[in-house]
Amino acid sequence: YESLSVAELAKKLHREPSEIIKKLFMLGVMATINQELDKDAIELICADYGVEVEEEVRIDKTDLDTYFEQEEIAEGDLEVRPPAVTIMGHVDHGKTTLLDSIRHTKVTAGEAGGITQHIGAYQVNIDGKKITFLDTPGHAAFTTMRARGASITDLAIIVVAADDGVMPQTVEAINHAKAAEVPIIVAVNKMDKPTANPDRVMQELTEHGLVPEDWGGDTIFVPISALKGEGIDTLLEMILLVAEVQELKANPNRPAIGTVIEAQLDKGRGSVATLLVQDGTLRVGDPIVVGHAYGRVRAMVNDLGRRVKEAGPATPVEITGINEVPQAGDRFVVFEDEKTARQVGESRSMTAIQASRSEKQRVTLDNLFEQM
Ligand code: GTP
Ligand code: MG
Repeated sequence: YESLSVAELAKKLHREPSEIIKKLFMLGVMATINQELDKDAIELICADYGVEVEEEVRIDKTDLDTYFEQEEIAEGDLEVRPPAVTIMGHVDHGKTTLLDSIRHTKVTAGEAGGITQHIGAYQVNIDGKKITFLDTPGHAAFTTMRARGASITDLAIIVVAADDGVMPQTVEAINHAKAAEVPIIVAVNKMDKPTANPDRVMQELTEHGLVPEDWGGDTIFVPISALKGEGIDTLLEMILLVAEVQELKANPNRPAIGTVIEAQLDKGRGSVATLLVQDGTLRVGDPIVVGHAYGRVRAMVNDLGRRVKEAGPATPVEITGINEVPQAGDRFVVFEDEKTARQVGESRSMTAIQASRSEKQRVTLDNLFEQM
């Protein structure tokens, strides 16, 4: 309890308030019957009666974050999961080319049929080990998602063009990654260019606290050419190496939770959301709350454009079946039954409506003041 009055505490302890007041007096605290006692005082009195104070935890079932923090997981239920990797860097330094290059070298031609369908994240498989890449604009993934308290990235790749060096957005990317406390791997790109100067890149990054291993630091630098597909395998190896050290685990045997990567309204299919499953397994038919939207997972499509029935930890999937379009960075939670999902969903969208109303009112008032 954060605070209780003397009378309330007396009632809980089945004592007379006067007795509590007397005890407080002995402890040097002058109190009246309606006086609010703080946590320390309550604990002191309880200890005197040999009663342990139990913390009352109030769970707001409509706050999706509680579902992320709630569950205590038995170690045995945990399995290794793929890392979720974001690629960041300055404009034109080669982020998109790198993502394409990874995808094309690692997604075999046979699978490539569905590639034209773009979803905001994809997974590659390297000798049985998976890596999930978040194909959102790097900074957006960190800023909007972090602002919403959703951390979805396990690792950041900072791309720096070797012919251009460290630029403002490179520094910004480093700061985002540092703030999110995720490990950084530097990909020194455009090594095929005659003007490439990787030493300069390393020198400049050292000034921002990223010291290469060769120079006694602990940052991994990988020289690559995204355009020519050179160094990509080494980069992927390094990602797996760092992920292994992180010991990323999840419990596939629980209802899924995760984050929205992107979402939009589709004429034929209704609300479509790309989700990153962060824990648990998402299945077709699952009752789900996504941000302020809710419903049942009607259909799921993977990053190759194929329909799937389930998606485990660190898997990106596109779903339909929810009643509204959520926002990138919104969290989603699967519920045991549809009734609970609907209740939570409805109460969340009510809160959202109220919030937007009061915001509108405030705006109107501001406008009024401006006009005066
Ligand atoms: P933004 O999304 O605008 O921030 O850029 P980006 O970082 O995604 O860069 P993008 O991949 O679009 O590449 C920008 C230009 O650099 C394109 O013309 C690419 O072809 C070129 N480029 C990318 N990687 C390499 C490389 O390894 N070598 C060479 N020579 N050119 C490259
Ligand atoms: Mg790009």
